[in-house]
Amino acid sequence: MRRLRRTPALRRLVAETRLSVDDLIAPLFVREGIEEPVPIRSMPGHVQHTEASLVQEVKRLAGLGVPAVMLFGVPAAKDATGSGAWDPDGVVQRALATLRDGFGDDVVLMADLCLDEYTDHGHCGVLCGDGAVDNDATLELYGRVARAQADAGAAVVAPSGMMDGQVAAIRRALDDGGHDKVAVLAYAVKYASALYGPFRDAVDVHIAGGGDRRAYQMDPANRREAVAEVALDVAEGADMVMVKPAVTYLDVIADVRRVVDVPVLAYHVSGEYAMVQAAAAAGWIDGPAVAVEQLTAVRRAGADAVLTYFAADVAEALGG
Ligand code: PBG
Repeated sequence: MRRLRRTPALRRLVAETRLSVDDLIAPLFVREGIEEPVPIRSMPGHVQHTEASLVQEVKRLAGLGVPAVMLFGVPAAKDATGSGAWDPDGVVQRALATLRDGFGDDVVLMADLCLDEYTDHGHCGVLCGDGAVDNDATLELYGRVARAQADAGAAVVAPSGMMDGQVAAIRRALDDGGHDKVAVLAYAVKYASALYGPFRDAVDVHIAGGGDRRAYQMDPANRREAVAEVALDVAEGADMVMVKPAVTYLDVIADVRRVVDVPVLAYHVSGEYAMVQAAAAAGWIDGPAVAVEQLTAVRRAGADAVLTYFAADVAEALGG
């Protein structure tokens, strides 16, 4: 076997998996009411952007060849229903409109579609009297968010709340609103993971009463259930499906790749990023090399593209 491993050119020739800048989506945070970007403590290298710094960052990413960005908003005020998520003047809608004007179709503008950044209790939907998340009342609100994001210029909306029926509700709302060209990227398989901690710092989300999302996100113990989840989302009209997190769920990515023909994405999440950065900062691992190895593994497992906080770094390394 070693004959084909002898030189870099030979290794390149026989590589089965390639990680390209074309496969990267950069998640970005935009915060309302700040004058300067605010560093995110647990995600070194990332900030909560002002609208102006967001535009600069998207320009840099586009220059590096990254085809898509995913926007998350941090509103100045939160309420019980998360109304900032569909306010035409809300933080993400304003940012989308600005980016749309500045970049047109040169960058794929994706918007995370959820309520948790906007609700005062931190859950991904509205609550029933008993404190549980009300599935169907939440679907109605997701429809409003989808329309607001599409009106503002999103090319892709990405529901991440794990409500049953969310893709169908959003597809219907988009079509009724004249947005038949706007695609749905379904966070179809999203686990109730402990790896989202740094993200919650990034968006200032605290779940009321020290609660968690286990009553709507998937149990990390389950594998077959992922296949059932993607089948439902594709039947409901998902244009792309996503598995999240990434490196701890490579088996799931491989299963999903086998059962659907739509693009399969994976989300290398905040905790995965933070672990690599922390070990690298301590001098214990070569951070950029580990990042490329992990993202290559995610591609090898079957993901067509990866959302990653390493997008700019990897694009820079690959473009060199
Ligand atoms: C929910 C959402 C979360 C992430 C993306 N969308 C957090 C959660 O489910 O608690 C996590 C992303 C990451 O950790 O990088 N809107």
